[in-house]
Amino acid sequence: MKNKPAVFITRKIPSVALQKIMPFADVEVWQDENPPSLETLLQKAPEIEGIFTLLTDPINSKVIDRFRSSFKVISQMAVGFDNIDIGAANRRRIPVGHTPGVLTETTADFTWALLMAAARRIIEGDNEVHKGIWRPWGPEVLLGVDLYGATLGIIGLGRIGQAVARRARGFNMKVLYHDPNRNFELEQSLELIYTSLDELIAESDFVTVHTFLSKETHHLINRPILAKMKTTAILVNTSRGPIVSPDDLAWALQEGRIAGAALDVFEPEPIPEGHPLLKMKNVIITPHIASASVQTRTRMALMAADNLVAALTGKQLPYCANPQVYST
Ligand code: DGY
Repeated sequence: MKNKPAVFITRKIPSVALQKIMPFADVEVWQDENPPSLETLLQKAPEIEGIFTLLTDPINSKVIDRFRSSFKVISQMAVGFDNIDIGAANRRRIPVGHTPGVLTETTADFTWALLMAAARRIIEGDNEVHKGIWRPWGPEVLLGVDLYGATLGIIGLGRIGQAVARRARGFNMKVLYHDPNRNFELEQSLELIYTSLDELIAESDFVTVHTFLSKETHHLINRPILAKMKTTAILVNTSRGPIVSPDDLAWALQEGRIAGAALDVFEPEPIPEGHPLLKMKNVIITPHIASASVQTRTRMALMAADNLVAALTGKQLPYCANPQVYST
């Protein structure tokens, strides 16, 4: 029997997804909780026909250049793929799979969890109680701010930004958005208001970031932008860490230029030990878990498995990030 193509899976994945792949590939699964190093990826690259990646794997041009000519697919278990040098993949005409759509609602739910936790100081209250401190009910104990009726600014009205906007309706919020493309239909149906970035920043009580990471959005949230926010405002980021400058954010919080922040992503990940933000009570930081529900992670893994198997069996990827590789 013909040998099955060698595939490297860079982390343990839900077994239902692994079962889908096994009949079509000779699989090696990286067992460590930490991602394989660049050296490991460089070493594996010439030995495989396909790779199943996560957003923590640096699939740069050096790795891509080492894939053999018969290499078939990079299948990423994430919607974002900024860890992959897509230009290098295009040059080699290697399809890159990703998982759009399936994590939208889960990520929007989590964004709301952060918004609410930050607005109502839930983590602070919980930390106190776990330390044995139950302050008596007092008129000014652990006061937060209301979301209901407040102004929400959404930067990036893609799938996740839209799902966040839909939830805001239940909170009777005024919702502003900024995006390179206006969406007149949603402006009507969800009563959204399109603004410039500056207006959004100046008027919002809560600013939530949902853009892609690109050269243009790298450190989009920087000192001049933070300086224009309301001093009572809270910043939430569940998109990509490098969109917010961590030094500028630390400055804004230290100087009281904004009231708080809730971040699921950071530059870099993991956050460096002793980072000033870790000492601030008005900052919530979670370890990139916005899509981490059992249902969604299973769907993401299955979708990535479908992409991988499609390529190994000579088909086009159903969810391809660079479909131009198929054009003649
Ligand atoms: C993605 O899929 O890009 C998310 O960041 C994973 O949580």
